[in-house]
Amino acid sequence: MSTIPINTERLPEHIAIIMDGNGRWAKQKGKFRVFGHENGVKAVREVSEGCAELGIKYLTLYAFSTENWNRPKIEINALMSLLVNTIKKETKTLMKNGIKLEAIGDRTMLPIDCRKELEEAIEITKNNTKMTLVLALSYSAKWDIVNATKDIVKRALEGDINLDDVNETLINNTLTTHKYPHPELMVRTSGEHRISNFLLWEIAYSELYFTNVLWPDFRKEHLHEAILDYQNRERRFGKTSEQLA
Ligand code: FPP
Repeated sequence: MSTIPINTERLPEHIAIIMDGNGRWAKQKGKFRVFGHENGVKAVREVSEGCAELGIKYLTLYAFSTENWNRPKIEINALMSLLVNTIKKETKTLMKNGIKLEAIGDRTMLPIDCRKELEEAIEITKNNTKMTLVLALSYSAKWDIVNATKDIVKRALEGDINLDDVNETLINNTLTTHKYPHPELMVRTSGEHRISNFLLWEIAYSELYFTNVLWPDFRKEHLHEAILDYQNRERRFGKTSEQLA
């Protein structure tokens, strides 16, 4: 573990995390996959608290992808129950820590109790200002891009916009993520080096950080390591090092 302190002047404003490895973590312990998801909740709590403590303004967690609907029904049901119970249990902690809960993704796909619990927590926490915790639920970047495209075409057909109005800003503002700055840092746990349909547009210039730690083992010190690694990167945005200097 590193002992170099984090530079609080150079924090990412937004961190996005692909929480991966719950199933493998459980398997290593001879348990069912759901046991891994249950233990993943502790890591969610740790990173949320860790980000709020440091002053990170936005944390987006990939909790359930559009593709995850293809998992066995028993696992989907267990994940949905876990989400309902966690959201219900953690609302008080979110309030205590000044965290606003928001969600991106196709909420219409969620079971009604999950949707209700989520919407209640979003309403209760809506005036919190310390940090925004965005849950990506039934989300995929391609789903978002397809919907944004449909919306833009509809507006064009209705005569509200024309071809020359279509630019990066319009597309950006039509995505469900338009309220958030693009993540400067994206983390994926469990040793997989993939983006898996998460925030494809928004990570155009994000720094990517991969760790072998399985999600249920992810703790504040791992978050700190990811941030330190980010702080040692040179973000050039297509320019040369000399230009930056
Ligand atoms: C990926 O591990 C993890 C998920 C699909 C679910 C993440 C959900 C949680 C951590 C539970 C609660 C979350 C919140 C926000 C309350 P995997 O199952 O793909 O693991 P594997 O790759 O080892 O099979």
